Amino acid sequence: MDKITITASKTYEVLTDSGLLARAGQLIRQALGDKVKKLCIVTDDNVNKLYSGPLQQSLQEAGYETVLFSFPPGESSKSMETLSLLLEFLAESQLTRTDALVGLGGGITGDLTGFAAASFLRGIPFVQVPTTLLAAVDSSVGGKTGINLKAGKNLAGAFWQPSLVLFDIDTMKTLSYDLLLDGAAEAIKAGAIADRELFSYIRRADDLTDPNVIRHLSSRAIEIKRQVVEADERDTGVRQLLNFGHTIGHAIEKCSGFSISHGHAVAIGMTIVSRASKNLGWSAEDCLSPLLESLNQFRFPLECPYSASQLADAALKDKKRMGDTITLVIPVHLGDCQLKKIPVSQLEDFIKGGLL
Ligand code: GLY
Repeated sequence: MDKITITASKTYEVLTDSGLLARAGQLIRQALGDKVKKLCIVTDDNVNKLYSGPLQQSLQEAGYETVLFSFPPGESSKSMETLSLLLEFLAESQLTRTDALVGLGGGITGDLTGFAAASFLRGIPFVQVPTTLLAAVDSSVGGKTGINLKAGKNLAGAFWQPSLVLFDIDTMKTLSYDLLLDGAAEAIKAGAIADRELFSYIRRADDLTDPNVIRHLSSRAIEIKRQVVEADERDTGVRQLLNFGHTIGHAIEKCSGFSISHGHAVAIGMTIVSRASKNLGWSAEDCLSPLLESLNQFRFPLECPYSASQLADAALKDKKRMGDTITLVIPVHLGDCQLKKIPVSQLEDFIKGGLL
């Protein structure tokens, strides 16, 4: 079992192994102690069919009473409406302050579960059980929780750290290649900001479905996330480096009505920023070529169907805009990114320089 300990406002472990769902009850008991009696599994209808059964069995064998809240899959469920239904369900199920939530699923489930945990009874513990690679390498770690508002993604939320993260590698077997790519994009992003060795590894790792490749990518990405979150839990400085490719990525997601998924959009966003930075001389070395090589190795579709003006319009509604400037993450060296503020009036030209 791989173990990474995160020391933030709460100290917790991220455990990676195969067969973790069957051991979840016992591992959760070790992490939460004996006070917790009832657990609410929060999941979507797809993941419910696949993994709620084994998880529930493991929790019950460990002596927990369990209840289950399942919601329709998809970004539209990461909403005030689902949050409200979930909070009412927790109240009806009579969860108390000494009970806990277990988010079983991808990033939408984890973010929603975390926000419900942060707000129910002014805060109860929760456990993340990511079942997508994207959630395992990024959203399940670090305590960012939240929902979308009509004006944009993740506009309401809280910093609320989980008490434990359990990544069962076996759950990757039911993921489509596209969903694996979503996670690989975040792992490549982690390499771009803090681990150039990851690019040499990817050059040799041709099969993203290989559990050893998944394990290596996820453990490197989680380790980098650990360092960043421990340095800046509340996202006021270096944590913003994790947004490499995200400002434009979010704009691409938004322009596509979310038909282009997060990881695919971030992959395109990273190439746009890297190309623009190279052209402007902001990168001290060529970061674009190794990035493209890694993304092509896993066969990412990298065409951007939107114009610079469409992307700039969408990006300027993003929450990361601060007044008249917007903060971009620029790859200076491979494995070393820096934050750079530019006037919002220059964003469209910047993006233009990064489009083919
Ligand atoms: N996903 C970016 C962060 O956790 O800060």
